[in-house]
Amino acid sequence: MKDMMPDDISGEYQEHMFSYHDGTHRKVLFTNIETQLPEGSLIVSRADLRGIITDVNQSFIEMSAYHKDELIGQPHCILRHPDMPAAAFGDLWKMVQQRNKWHGYVKNLRKDGGFYWVYATVIANIRNGDITGFTSVRRRTSRTKINEAETHYQTL
Ligand SMILES: Cc1cc2nc3c(=O)[nH]c(=O)nc-3n(C[C@H](O)[C@H](O)[C@H](O)COP(=O)(O)O)c2cc1C
Repeated sequence: MKDMMPDDISGEYQEHMFSYHDGTHRKVLFTNIETQLPEGSLIVSRADLRGIITDVNQSFIEMSAYHKDELIGQPHCILRHPDMPAAAFGDLWKMVQQRNKWHGYVKNLRKDGGFYWVYATVIANIRNGDITGFTSVRRRTSRTKINEAETHYQTL
C-alpha cells in the first residue's frame, strides 16, 4: 500500500506510521473530520482468505473516498484508523476463522484523512464445507455506542 499523500487530505492532519500484521508499513495522515454514514445505508465488501478486498458496493466507495480500482486487490487494513487497537481485529480474525459471526464498532480512515464509525458484521463464506472468503456488512451506529467504543478502545 502506498503512503497517504498530503495532496489528498482535507484539513489539518497528524501523521502515523503503521506496521501491519503482514509486516508491511504505511504512513497514514488523519484529521478529526467525521463523515456520517446515512441511516439505512449499508457498506458491503468481500475479501479473500487473507483479507484482500475482492468486491465493494457503492456505499463503501463513497464512504472511503477511494476509487473502486484503488480498493480492489488491496488489504482491508487500507481503512485502518490509528485509533483502532490491534486487539479488536485479532478478535475478528479469530472469530471468523472459527466460522463464527463477528460484530464490532469500527472507526475507519478515509482517503481524505477523515473518519467514519460503523457497526460491522463479518462472516465467513463457506462453500462445500470450506471457507472461501469473508463478507462484511456495516451500518450506521449511535453516538452513545461510538462513545462507549472509544472509551473501551483506549483501554486496549
Ligand atoms: C471482510 C473483512 C472486512 C474488514 N473490514 C475492515 C474495516 O472496515 N476496517 C478495518 O480497519 N479493518 C477491517 N478488516 C480487518 C483487516 O483485515 C485488518 O485485520 C485490520 O485492518 C488490522 O490490520 P493489520 O492486522 O494488518 O494490522 C476486515 C477484515 C475482513 C475479513
